[in-house]
Amino acid sequence: MKRFGVLTSGGDAPGMNAAIRAVVRSGIDQGWEAFGVEHGYQGLLTGEFRPMGPRDVSGIIQLGGTVLGSARSLEFKTEEGRRKAIRHLNQRGIEALVVIGGNGSQTGAYSLHQMGFPVVGVASTIDNDLVGSDITIGVDTALNIALEAIDRLKVTASSHERAFMIEVMGRNCGYLALMAGIAGGAEAICIPEFETSPETVADVIAKAYERGKKHALIVVAEGAKHGVIELEAYFKEHNERLGFDVRATTLGHVQRGGTPGAFDRLLGTRLGAMAVEQIAAGNFGVLVGQVKGTITATPHADIVDRVKPLDPKLFELANVLAK
Ligand code: F6P
Repeated sequence: MKRFGVLTSGGDAPGMNAAIRAVVRSGIDQGWEAFGVEHGYQGLLTGEFRPMGPRDVSGIIQLGGTVLGSARSLEFKTEEGRRKAIRHLNQRGIEALVVIGGNGSQTGAYSLHQMGFPVVGVASTIDNDLVGSDITIGVDTALNIALEAIDRLKVTASSHERAFMIEVMGRNCGYLALMAGIAGGAEAICIPEFETSPETVADVIAKAYERGKKHALIVVAEGAKHGVIELEAYFKEHNERLGFDVRATTLGHVQRGGTPGAFDRLLGTRLGAMAVEQIAAGNFGVLVGQVKGTITATPHADIVDRVKPLDPKLFELANVLAK
């Protein structure tokens, strides 16, 4: 092994830079040359490779986003695109690749592995929807950002005796919404895994009002069956029985752009270093993540195309605590 590459792919996540830094410096420590690939898989297709020394990753551990840039590449999803990517890697003498990213990125990594190119994945997405890592890089910071917004909304909600709906990211996964809802003391949580009808949410709001609450908070995952727009329309139609006036806020990409907290910096660092250990051991086609507190490498074959379950007990607990 002489040369290896590293890229970040899909949605950026706070802590990705810590992972890049750890991968580059640990790889150099092994005596290898490091190459950064810019703009994710797209950069493999356009040949955006840059040599990276220890100084190229100086002063980045505290930065959100990714210094390598990221992209969503349609061309890479085709077999022809992936062949081109492997051709470019081979032309530069790059013998192994670290892919830092979430679900779609790890599916892409597995495809490269199946085509014979040595790949190691690092679990990174704010969605926390990757099997093979109990928690992924970026989740903790994104959750804290959502929580700060929820706390602020609770203040204005109480002042005006209103209800607030807050839409949080997560694609098809309700993890962020569920955890932000529990930690923020939400009255109702709407997530894709456990459906809540608009009637039920309206009941919750009405009962909170009748019990004398000064506010009601509803955290809605972007992937929930009944989303914020539908709920808002329903509440407008049934305004007289809610008690509270309802306002809606969509947090959107604000959740992704934060400064990584200690947890994500440390997770990114540990996963990045472990990815290099996998390359050194010749263990490819794996995702490096944290399982039951231990940094673990799980075969991509066991994690792609699988849905990570959410604990129903946590959802029940959220409802109990909303009384
Ligand atoms: O996967 C991370 C994520 O932020 C999801 O939560 C969200 O659905 C999606 O990316 C948004 O993608 P984009 O940044 O391409 O709009």
